[in-house]
Amino acid sequence: MKKLPDLKPRPYITAILAMSADGKIADASRSAARFPSPADQAHLQAQIAKSDATLFGAGTLRAYGTTMSVTDPALLAVRRSPDQPIQIVCTATGNLDPNCRFFSQPVPRWLITTAEGIQYWRARLAQKRPSVQNLDPQQLPQPPLQPPLQPPRQRPHQRPFDHTLITERPFNWHNLMQELRTGQSSLSDSTSRRPIQRLLVMGGSELVASLLTDGFIDELYLTVCPLLIGGKTAPTPVGGLGFTLPRTPRLKLLSATVEGDEVFLHYQVLAL
Ligand SMILES: NC(=O)c1ccc[n+]([C@@H]2O[C@H](COP(=O)([O-])OP(=O)(O)OC[C@H]3O[C@@H](n4cnc5c(N)ncnc54)[C@H](OP(=O)(O)O)[C@@H]3O)[C@@H](O)[C@H]2O)c1
Repeated sequence: MKKLPDLKPRPYITAILAMSADGKIADASRSAARFPSPADQAHLQAQIAKSDATLFGAGTLRAYGTTMSVTDPALLAVRRSPDQPIQIVCTATGNLDPNCRFFSQPVPRWLITTAEGIQYWRARLAQKRPSVQNLDPQQLPQPPLQPPLQPPRQRPHQRPFDHTLITERPFNWHNLMQELRTGQSSLSDSTSRRPIQRLLVMGGSELVASLLTDGFIDELYLTVCPLLIGGKTAPTPVGGLGFTLPRTPRLKLLSATVEGDEVFLHYQVLAL
């Protein structure tokens, strides 16, 4: 793990994952990991509520098609901001499904991608729009009998992404994190982004591995769930190429609690 010097401020970054008792975060087909209990879901939602933004890899979005928003009124009441946390997806290829439910969830959405990724994503979005020529004339919307009194109000968060940050491949997390923290950007055309102080990384294994490699994870929550998934290729909390002993990230246990059949672990990630 190469710990980069923090020359400029960056968000405080916590990662949160649930794993089976044999250390897998999903099955070998990388399907949605819906094995954690309601207690773990509540724990996850509490961490989301404490964060200014969440960050997840495109593999996680492709598996779930949706994200977790804060729905508990008590958690919403104690949030520093009245809004939902920003949900940030990262993809180098731009290969996201514009039809997935994530894009109709009432949350702010940001995208981190590359120059090629944004082109591919825009092409996918263009394909999504139904072409008027291809529609059955019977199905075309009829003109209203009377003009509406007011133009229809735009629903908030209707756009697929509120902000896009374009970076190189592999991602330069050092620049990205500084830009997320300050809210100012040379990587996006927007000048008014919410600065992010607390960032929650929700997986999956590839994203966690790349952030750990660059020394960008400060804390880790791991829930050990009572099942065995097995399989050589099923992902573990940290994917990528792995670390070579003894140069591995080290953890300090901050707390360990048992609830039902699950164990909730909370670690600090130590700098090398
Ligand atoms: N148990 C849990 O708590 C938990 C939590 C989250 C996810 N999961 C499971 O984990 C699986 C998904 O994890 P995963 O490891 O396959 O995928 P992932 O880490 O969610 O996403 C990997 C993808 O994100 C983009 N990406 C991540 N880091 C990048 C970097 N440094 N530079 C450029 N692009 C980057 C790339 O997208 P492109 O390929 O689009 O370029 C990459 O292929 C699913 O099965 C899901 O159910 C489990």
